[in-house]
Amino acid sequence: MLNNKTVLITGASSGIGLACAHSFAKQGAKLILCARSYDKLVTIASELKSHYNVLIHILELDVTQATAVKESLTTLSSPFQKIDILINNAGLAQGLDKIYEANIQDWEKMIDTNIKGLLYVSRIVIENMVKHNSGHIINMGSLSSHQVYSGGTVYCATKFAVKALTRGMQMDVQGTPIKISEVDPGMVNTNFSLTRFKGDKNAADAIYENKHPLTAEDIAETVLFCATRPAHVNIAEIIILSLDGTPLK
Ligand SMILES: NC(=O)c1ccc[n+]([C@@H]2O[C@H](COP(=O)([O-])OP(=O)(O)OC[C@H]3O[C@@H](n4cnc5c(N)ncnc54)[C@H](OP(=O)(O)O)[C@@H]3O)[C@@H](O)[C@H]2O)c1
Repeated sequence: MLNNKTVLITGASSGIGLACAHSFAKQGAKLILCARSYDKLVTIASELKSHYNVLIHILELDVTQATAVKESLTTLSSPFQKIDILINNAGLAQGLDKIYEANIQDWEKMIDTNIKGLLYVSRIVIENMVKHNSGHIINMGSLSSHQVYSGGTVYCATKFAVKALTRGMQMDVQGTPIKISEVDPGMVNTNFSLTRFKGDKNAADAIYENKHPLTAEDIAETVLFCATRPAHVNIAEIIILSLDGTPLK
């Protein structure tokens, strides 16, 4: 049980983050749910409260905005001030274009969200974890943290960066009880492809056609597993693939 733990989940309005919100609420954790979609978070918070009777704080926040991230994470009200577990999950892909055809704004959005956003949130949270000498950060990487595919070069580069950040964080907290983990899923059926193709449902559905992708719940279970190991065990990195998805090369 995670009764007295406060868990900050970025990207909690959809997909893997939303599934994590359910898994952690079921374990009795207090949740800080972060995303840009305030209305979705309000609905999710009300469902979680009625199902699991847990405390929820809604954080309408764009992780790419460094000042807003600092302001909101340093002014949390008392039951939520000490973050025990941070799930750095907010992220996206934009476009599936070859590097010589891609749109620079798409690159910037991926880099700003997947790398800089993760850094802005981590900077505040990890400093407090070091002060309290406890805590756990779980970064959402990807199979794309390990290998590149055509059209996904910049998305993959951002996830390779997440891998570097995970490894660096692990080194920086070495000798403390703070844990840093990375969860690296293959294909998961969420809104990820709809976002990548900017609302083109046919293009998004084609990605999952004749496949049996992972579910957001598969990943949430793994995140929960990482978060509930004994104090001396740190899951440094875990790769989860669907059986008929892209294999590890
Ligand atoms: N689906 C896959 O196949 C797959 C595979 C490997 C890894 N991943 C990774 O898993 C993570 C979650 O993706 P998902 O598959 O669950 O996709 P999703 O359903 O599209 O969820 C993405 C979440 O990120 C949030 N988000 C995006 N930009 C944000 C920003 N600037 N500030 C705050 N929140 C932001 C979205 O909320 P708002 O739009 O409300 O802000 C949403 O809650 C991502 O890091 C992704 O790279 C996904």
